[in-house]
Amino acid sequence: MSKERITPYHFVKAKREGRKLVMVTAYEYIQAKLADEAGVDGILVGDSLGMVVMGYPSTIPVTFGQVAHHLKAVLSARPRALVVADMPFLTYEVSKEEAVRNAGRYLKMGADAVKVEGGIEILDKVEAMVKAGIPVMGHVGLNPQRYLVHGLRLRGRTAEDALKVYEDAKALEEAGVFSVVIEFTTAEVAAEVTKALRIPTICIGAGSSCDGQILVFHDLVGLNPTPPPFVKKYAEGFEVFRSALKAYVEDVRSGAFPDERHYFRISPEELARFREMLERKRASRPSP
Ligand code: KIV
Repeated sequence: MSKERITPYHFVKAKREGRKLVMVTAYEYIQAKLADEAGVDGILVGDSLGMVVMGYPSTIPVTFGQVAHHLKAVLSARPRALVVADMPFLTYEVSKEEAVRNAGRYLKMGADAVKVEGGIEILDKVEAMVKAGIPVMGHVGLNPQRYLVHGLRLRGRTAEDALKVYEDAKALEEAGVFSVVIEFTTAEVAAEVTKALRIPTICIGAGSSCDGQILVFHDLVGLNPTPPPFVKKYAEGFEVFRSALKAYVEDVRSGAFPDERHYFRISPEELARFREMLERKRASRPSP
């Protein structure tokens, strides 16, 4: 595999050449190393960290600083994959200036691009970021940051809702995004959007006709005990780690760990000298 770093340009080229793109949402050094070694094209430092890392009920409480912290950890792995920083709720919606400034801070830290949720309602912010030279990934269909208003429902079940997803994606392309995530949307609608765009669609829970797929690290390795319904689990991570931890607890309590392989000894000569020193110290101590 070539060591050339992947850029937004490679994403658009992959679509032109009919190559599927693979992304994973990851939050730290080891996860980024694993994903990169597996050959993913992109790593999203997603605001889903709110749920799978912080245990929050949603992505709403996630802050600019939390994504920045995890972005640094992912960048330490120096991945070949494109690194996309997810912009948390209210870091880009308030004004164009805030959107550009906050996105620019992630780029200065080393991110290759940012991702924002929403369609027509955030076009002015997307245009301002693109004009400032910031590569932007869109995110249509289910937008978890807006669940308090719209819920967490499957998108594109009615013709009207399908048209809304389609128009959001088309408008984002016009505004200059290099790629768009389509989340939890009917497969036929995601396929129509994919056909209509020159930029790649990256899907999650939106069928197989998209130009690429993205899954959350914890979901795909089985570390999330309550994954969304569209996830395919590739390992039983939760069970593997739970059994390892249980075995450790039992070993310590029974005395089986640590054994000779897990600690180090002083030489008999140095041990004798050490004990002599202790003797002398005790002997010279004035009696109470
Ligand atoms: O935060 C995240 O992980 C995401 C993906 C689900 C696309 O936005």
